[in-house]
Amino acid sequence: MSKTVLVTGGAGFIGSNLIRWILSNRDWRVVNLDALTYAGNLANLRDVESDQRYRFVHGRIEDAALVHAVLEEHRIEGIIHCAAESHVDRSIAAAAPFIETNVRGTLVLLEAARQHGIERFIHVSTDEVYGTLGPDDPPFTEESPLAPNSPYAASKAGADCLVRAFVHTYGLPAIITRCSNNYGPYQFPEKLIPLAIANALDEQPIPIYGDGRQVRDWIYVTDHCRGLVAAYEHGRIGQTYNFGGRSERRNIDVVRAILRLLGRPDSLIEYVADRPGHDRRYAIDCSKAERELAWRPCVTFEDGLAETIAWYQNNRAWVDAVRSGEYRRYYEQQYGSRHRTVAR
Ligand code: NAD
Ligand code: TYD
Repeated sequence: MSKTVLVTGGAGFIGSNLIRWILSNRDWRVVNLDALTYAGNLANLRDVESDQRYRFVHGRIEDAALVHAVLEEHRIEGIIHCAAESHVDRSIAAAAPFIETNVRGTLVLLEAARQHGIERFIHVSTDEVYGTLGPDDPPFTEESPLAPNSPYAASKAGADCLVRAFVHTYGLPAIITRCSNNYGPYQFPEKLIPLAIANALDEQPIPIYGDGRQVRDWIYVTDHCRGLVAAYEHGRIGQTYNFGGRSERRNIDVVRAILRLLGRPDSLIEYVADRPGHDRRYAIDCSKAERELAWRPCVTFEDGLAETIAWYQNNRAWVDAVRSGEYRRYYEQQYGSRHRTVAR
């Protein structure tokens, strides 16, 4: 019989892509528990909402009574935990919601999972827990020490430590995954790639923090989703698996590539004050996942970026609905007037 899994944060970017991937590629039933914060958007799931194998529950993961009721009523067998406050800049402006959702919410889920004897708990974490790399450092492995630099990364590292403790202390069948920067359809346009695409489409300036030479490893979102299911099905309990795209790029080069593909001028690039504590470089060694999970990233950055741009071009109504202007005002409030730091 097909299993029923709980995806937390399924109305967000990765969660919605994950639910779509599962419903298309497995016979599982999926329950989506999501608080619908500014980042949660049920329009991300419009094409699957009438699927009989899909259910949405509105609520917060910190709500223990609700989590218990969901696990019980839907006979949940496994959890893929995506719900989080996920944006570094917001964590710099206000850290408390990150502790509430990412740490306390994860604790509530872990306790409920333990009580209900679920078969797998996949904890979706990030490479940002490892901190930052110099230009010539080898990529992060699962053995790299935790050295989070932003309140977001610290909250994720805190949650990772709780997951580890629940495996060690209670034998909870949990696995941690740590992925590099995702991009693709349905990403909220506060993160670099969708922000740059949406602004370029509207011929608006694209803010580049500091000198723009920070490096991120980019992975197409469905490659991450495949990895999460592979970890669920083939991962060893108590292990951590890194996922990455083997696509390190400087921010400035990512933005220039977007402008080139959209036929927009480089003059839209606006250098602004750097992010406080900005991590210089992330890079991921994902060979353990390749070895143990029969997984590898399949989409090249060039193909994935072209797909992503096409999606945003074809879904202007989604972008317009999301871009109520709230987050623009948000940034203005948080950072005040941005100023150019590098003349070009
Ligand atoms: P997102 O911000 O797009 O979505 C987060 C979702 O969680 C939203 O639907 C939101 O409504 C929901 N949510 C937030 N707080 C909640 C709460 N207290 N209770 C229930 N639901 C809540 O985030 P994303 O980019 O899809 O990231 C998903 C997960 O993947 C996060 O755990 C993040 O740390 C991790 N991750 C993201 C990336 C990336 O590049 N986006 C990379 C590695 C890991
Ligand atoms: P982001 O998409 O916020 O992801 P993360 O901080 O989790 O890596 O940012 C990616 C990189 O792009 C990061 O180095 C910060 C930078 N950045 C800009 O230069 N301008 C922007 O407007 C944003 C949102 C990010």
